[in-house]
Amino acid sequence: MITDKKVVIIGAGNMGGALLGGIRRADLVPPENLLITGLRPEHLETLAGRWGVGWATDNVAAVQSADIIMLCLKPQAVAAVLAEIADHLDPAQLVISIAAGIPTDLISKGIRQHNPIVRVMPNIAALVDEAASAICLGQYANETHKTIAAHIFQAVGRVFFVHERLMDAVTGLSGSGPAYIYMVIESLSDGGVKMGLPREVATALAAQTVLGAARLIQETGIHPAVLRDQVTTPGGTTIAAIHDLETRGLRSMLISAVVTATERARELSALVPDHA
Ligand SMILES: NC(=O)c1ccc[n+]([C@@H]2O[C@H](COP(=O)([O-])OP(=O)(O)OC[C@H]3O[C@@H](n4cnc5c(N)ncnc54)[C@H](OP(=O)(O)O)[C@@H]3O)[C@@H](O)[C@H]2O)c1
Repeated sequence: MITDKKVVIIGAGNMGGALLGGIRRADLVPPENLLITGLRPEHLETLAGRWGVGWATDNVAAVQSADIIMLCLKPQAVAAVLAEIADHLDPAQLVISIAAGIPTDLISKGIRQHNPIVRVMPNIAALVDEAASAICLGQYANETHKTIAAHIFQAVGRVFFVHERLMDAVTGLSGSGPAYIYMVIESLSDGGVKMGLPREVATALAAQTVLGAARLIQETGIHPAVLRDQVTTPGGTTIAAIHDLETRGLRSMLISAVVTATERARELSALVPDHA
């Protein structure tokens, strides 16, 4: 449904590049309708060449031919780019922003028009089409815009719809979450190495264990506590380890990590200048 739309990705860095890859792998938009922008011509030329799309360093020229404008900039770069493009937008153009902590009303203020705005918080697993992306709508966005955004982000993983006031909590859970899980995998691997496993085997076993456990939750829909009970033999090894994890506060630690990251996301949002 968006194959006939022209899409420009402003700020084709890590996430912008990952989204471009997902859009092309899913063939959502033909290459001739895709344009990426950034600051470094050599980087843009390489990335655009890989997917057969157009590239530009001029954001103003790039947005003029677009139906959908995807802002994939760092939060601190958003204000300047909005100021740059504001006078060149058509009110029908859909703006999709993944900039952490930038509310949709601030984007509306920045462009000084009532364009539909959709805000999304994906995560780095977009690189392997396994992102968890939360989507919320700004004041002027409707169901059509929501569907378009969902199509784009489904190309790189799973999509969830939340109210905008919950976006900081999403950042604290799934936006930052891959880093927590890397630490879990690394620690499990260390445990394996301590008990004699070669490092490569230990890391591969740990990563596959996390992947498998996650897929079981997704594919069965069974509550994680029930799945845990199913693998916990009375008097066995797993309950011994669970006792250890409970004593050392694993659950409390992870809850606290999400709370702390959410609060930090709120603090960072408050620092965004009003003229974004
Ligand atoms: N990475 C993640 O895991 C993740 C997860 C969820 C959300 N996000 C959000 O996604 C956004 C992008 O993050 P990222 O990790 O992809 O950052 P990034 O790799 O730095 O990408 C940002 C890109 O914007 C380009 N840029 C800077 N100023 C520009 C301008 N005036 N016009 C056009 N392009 C410009 C940069 O070009 P140069 O490279 O030449 O400087 C860079 O390629 C952030 O707001 C972040 O919060 C990221």
